Amino acid sequence: MGIFLVVLLILAGLALLYILWCLTEPFFLINDKVKMKRSSSVDRSGSELNVKKLPLNPKDIEGTADLRLFFFSDIHNEWCPVTAKRICNSIRRAHKSSGLDAVIFDGDLVTYPKNAQKGYNYVNAVRDCCKELGLPFYGISGNHDFMLENAPAKSGFISLDNSYVTLSSGKTGARIYLAGVPDSGKVHRVWQKKLACNMDAPVVLLAHNPDSILHLDPEARPDFMLSGHFHGGQMKLPFKFEFNVLRTTDTLPKKNVIQGQFDLNGTKTFISRGLGCGILPFRFLCVPEATVVEIYL
Ligand SMILES: [Fe+2]
Repeated sequence: MGIFLVVLLILAGLALLYILWCLTEPFFLINDKVKMKRSSSVDRSGSELNVKKLPLNPKDIEGTADLRLFFFSDIHNEWCPVTAKRICNSIRRAHKSSGLDAVIFDGDLVTYPKNAQKGYNYVNAVRDCCKELGLPFYGISGNHDFMLENAPAKSGFISLDNSYVTLSSGKTGARIYLAGVPDSGKVHRVWQKKLACNMDAPVVLLAHNPDSILHLDPEARPDFMLSGHFHGGQMKLPFKFEFNVLRTTDTLPKKNVIQGQFDLNGTKTFISRGLGCGILPFRFLCVPEATVVEIYL
């Protein structure tokens, strides 16, 4: 057997292993936790984006959180082996262990509008579970949801598209705004400039696409932002091929802001890898995640 054939067989074997792993990884789920501490100085002067990568659990954050939110994003229920039942079990466990203040979905029910019902079925099951536990369930629209008719109403969550609610810190009773900006999708892209709430209390912003922060008026930059959209890259490819070639409209991935916690000009930002798979049923080094977000004021 020639050396050429041996190399070819090895490469074919590696390719097969890669594909098998890509098909397997969507079945896993990481239940993680992120601790986010309010910055004393959110830069609302309009200066250029200043990025700092932060660990999920910074060592200097201790004590009791002001708010505990269960956060998940990007279901894309054409192919999401992390079922609603598994998410409900995660919510129950998190609520039982330390208590939750709310459950949040950050957009993208499905990839294609013809499958909308699959997405509604998923979040309806989460709504029922939240009801049983007495927890409010909030959500916003992702870039794949803008084509669905009456999606917020059919989803069963309280829509924060261009809206907000006031929550209270479980620790001090302090007011916190939970606000949302909808995603208008790629076809008729309209970036929100302002928030629905005032800035006279700490703001936790739900923005499906973290690029939203680049388009907000600087004075509307929130204290915290919770996002999804990038799927962590979904299939990590060499040279960030997925962001440099396959989906070139997103800006933050080019600055290595893709998943995890960041400080963006003082706005503490968490970007989830999401749950499901967009377009291809593959994930590679991007295990689906559902996160308990702890907010410290
Ligand atoms: Fe998505």
